[in-house]
Amino acid sequence: MTLRAGVIGWPIQHSRSPALHGHWLKTHGIDGTYERIPVAPDDLEPFFRALPTSGLRGVNITIPHKIAAMDLVDEVAEEARHIGAINTVVVQGGRLLGSNTDAFGFAESLMAGAPGFRFDGGPAVVLGAGGAARAVVAALLARGVTEIRLANRDSGKTDWFVGRFGPRIVPVPWAQRDGALGGANLVVNTTSLGMAGQPALDLDLTDLPTSASVTDIVYVPLMTDLLRRAAARGHVIVDGLGMLLHQARPGFAAWFGREPVVTAELRAAVLAA
Ligand code: ATR
Repeated sequence: MTLRAGVIGWPIQHSRSPALHGHWLKTHGIDGTYERIPVAPDDLEPFFRALPTSGLRGVNITIPHKIAAMDLVDEVAEEARHIGAINTVVVQGGRLLGSNTDAFGFAESLMAGAPGFRFDGGPAVVLGAGGAARAVVAALLARGVTEIRLANRDSGKTDWFVGRFGPRIVPVPWAQRDGALGGANLVVNTTSLGMAGQPALDLDLTDLPTSASVTDIVYVPLMTDLLRRAAARGHVIVDGLGMLLHQARPGFAAWFGREPVVTAELRAAVLAA
């Protein structure tokens, strides 16, 4: 029997997930499919109602459904509840289990790209306070980061993080972000700045200890201006593609029964798609 999974979103043409899961299905020789499933917002509730008997083992969820889908599944994993969004659904015994694998994906990508990285090695600086930042912050706190200096243009959103995640979040005014780098062990850009078609992230790295790692969740382009400048200063850098690849692992394992690995070939296949 062909095992089926897919990704729902609106629009969905640009999702890279089919290339990613397709590569793993091929390398593992699994009789399975991973489909692009366009679901308009008005069709979201009927889609989830039909999901247990659809023949799909589960789905990934992308824009704009990650928040609304939380109310349409039977169970939401604790970390996903903290983040406030789900990106993975597994059909199990007729029940829909929702989870968020972005935090896992971020942490795994960081550990793979910065071997020996210590989560307890000092404060982290996170730029941006949107959906992606929630997953990054949850990942860092769960793994023992003691202080997250959080800078966002809209300061109302950083206050939300303090309420949700507690006193380890230290809000930093956007205009003072350069000054937050002193003594930091990690910098994470979660804003869309640096993405193709967007201005670069304006961040002066002078005060950042050379031992700090620098990571960007932007992956188009792979080498952002931030990462290029950080590499020139000798920092370990981690690009944004790894988070996309690693976040896909738990879903694949649940739907298709095999533990997939992130390899150079997978990176190349997804970049070529
Ligand atoms: P995602 O789900 O990818 O995190 P998002 O929720 O739209 O996307 O968040 C985008 C982030 O990029 C936000 O932190 C946003 O800052 P605001 O909350 O102030 O809007 C940040 N961002 C986007 N454009 C920006 C810009 N020109 N300057 C500073 N921050 C910017």
